[in-house]
Amino acid sequence: MKPVVYVTRKIPDDVLQPYREVFNIRMWEKEDKPVPRDILLREAAKADGLLCLLTESVDKELLAAAKNLKVVANMAVGYDNIDVEAARSNGVVVTNTPDVLTETTADLTFALLMATARRVVEAADYIREGKWDYWSPYLLAGSDIHGKTIGIAGMGRIGEAVARRAKGFGMSIQYNNRSRKEKAEQELSAVYKNFTAMLQGSDFIVSLVPLTQKTAQMFDEEAFRNMKSSAIFVNVSRGGTVDEQALYDALTNGQIRAAGLDVFDQEPISPEHPLVGLQNVVCLPHIGSASEATRTKMLKLSLDNLKAVLDGEKAITPV
Ligand code: GLV
Ligand code: GLV
Repeated sequence: MKPVVYVTRKIPDDVLQPYREVFNIRMWEKEDKPVPRDILLREAAKADGLLCLLTESVDKELLAAAKNLKVVANMAVGYDNIDVEAARSNGVVVTNTPDVLTETTADLTFALLMATARRVVEAADYIREGKWDYWSPYLLAGSDIHGKTIGIAGMGRIGEAVARRAKGFGMSIQYNNRSRKEKAEQELSAVYKNFTAMLQGSDFIVSLVPLTQKTAQMFDEEAFRNMKSSAIFVNVSRGGTVDEQALYDALTNGQIRAAGLDVFDQEPISPEHPLVGLQNVVCLPHIGSASEATRTKMLKLSLDNLKAVLDGEKAITPV
């Protein structure tokens, strides 16, 4: 009998088709929204493998209900939506999708950095709103990127890919990470700093740390106070790494200049979210890895991880 795999969102047929030969695939395809929790629990109870998204909470309750479950493939590099400890003690393998999304996410990080520095969204809106009456020397003048210092919090694969882009733009690179990255130090002249020194010395501060108990709200009131008043903050990891009230205050009282945010504490956010209303903020709906090619690679890697584990082999990218 083919193992049962539950897929929590409709994914394209041409991606899924080859796997139908090896799995009995069930899928939430009624609408492109998160699967209702009761249906997820019911389906998980019958599944040998689960392909889920960051919108699903794989917690003790789900793991207790999922008696046959052997593997959870999260279609994301971050896995703060999964209780990995509980999975481990239930003998469930958890996998994520590193590497395939590294360059795409670094591209988006740089897009946010440049959009905020050069006020790209505000400037495009300026025309759309019929405000462009004449040219002027300081019209929508922003900050330079070349020659400035970027501070990267979380020098993992994506952090290093951002650093390579920064080097290409003639920036100086500082970073903070749990461990030293000698290769990045040698090849990119990245300089290790403690967190506070990095905040104090950077023109752009980019959060790429995974969300854990240690990193929760690490960008708090004190962190923003340590930044330059000209600093631009970019978050492409998880909203939970930031105290959003402290960020709002820092942006409105001139403690920092601007922010580019792809992630939020509670997603999705509405147009009424306080940060959306600020002219010096660019908000995006968590699209860091959203290129067509990369999203397909993430789905295939998730499916290949399921196949490996359900075939009795080692997962390709276990967490
Ligand atoms: C997306 O946020 C991911 O973790 O891949
Ligand atoms: C983790 O987020 C990474 O940098 O790959």
